[in-house]
Amino acid sequence: MDAQQSGEPDATAVRTALWRALHTLIDDAPHVLDDTIGLRLAGVDETWRERPDMDPVRTRPNRASIVARSRAAEDALAASGAGARQLVVLGAGLDTTAQRYPGDVRVFEIDAPATQAWKRARLADLGLLDPARLTLVPVDFEVDESWLSAATEAGLNPATPTVVSMLGVAMYLTRDAISATLRQAASLAPGSMMVMGFSRPIEMAPAEIRPLLEGAAAGAAASGHPWLSLLSPDDAVALARGAGFAEVQVVTSEDLHARYFADRADGLSPVGGEDLVIATV
Ligand SMILES: C[S@@+](CC[C@H](N)C(=O)[O-])C[C@H]1O[C@@H](n2cnc3c(N)ncnc32)[C@H](O)[C@@H]1O
Repeated sequence: MDAQQSGEPDATAVRTALWRALHTLIDDAPHVLDDTIGLRLAGVDETWRERPDMDPVRTRPNRASIVARSRAAEDALAASGAGARQLVVLGAGLDTTAQRYPGDVRVFEIDAPATQAWKRARLADLGLLDPARLTLVPVDFEVDESWLSAATEAGLNPATPTVVSMLGVAMYLTRDAISATLRQAASLAPGSMMVMGFSRPIEMAPAEIRPLLEGAAAGAAASGHPWLSLLSPDDAVALARGAGFAEVQVVTSEDLHARYFADRADGLSPVGGEDLVIATV
């Protein structure tokens, strides 16, 4: 059933939160990201680790990719030259940067209304809703509605450098919706930065992980969240340039491996998972 109709959280958002928790719970330290708050938010029963999509061995590449992209976005925020004090998380799901990030930043989470309403209630239940730190703004990217206008109305200052992340979302959007979200980010103050994850067409992935991706694509379609936009790196760069960003670079899953996984002895690797476009205004 569609999350919009049921008031349930988006199933893909719950899954990525559980993968982040699984990384902390079962992978060797040092962890690329430590996030078990998403597991508390998900509120699943104790059998969650028996879910087929939580298979600890088969889904290693998935959870490696999920923690790598979140870590890269947080590192981009930490490194933002102008010292961005605003973070916009597009398609936030069960993202917990607002609860974990150690720096002084105001977070605006944009998400589909039903998933966000559910999250607001969960945050409140757990005593984690801090309005000084986190503002929740409901927007559907596929509706002709500007996330930037909605966030600005909710208190975002578009005239100050801002980091915008959009992780694990582009594949679920039409190209038009991706372009529109990028154009709005590109209209932010100079020095602002967008970190957008994108997935390549399956035939561009390493042969050994294609079956995993094909299974994931079929599962996504069956659960009512079909993959609508798979992008080559050239395609993703063209979309970001077309949206008006001054500088655009791609950080591939191989780059993420080199950055965060090269020294690991356990073979965990995000290669074949999401690549990132890092685009600067
Ligand atoms: C796979 S989850 C990723 C969540 C989070 N960014 C993460 O990395 O864990 C996809 C998210 O995109 C959101 N999303 C998908 N389509 C959307 C739309 N048309 N408008 C707003 N949000 C959307 C979903 O509600 C969900 O929270």
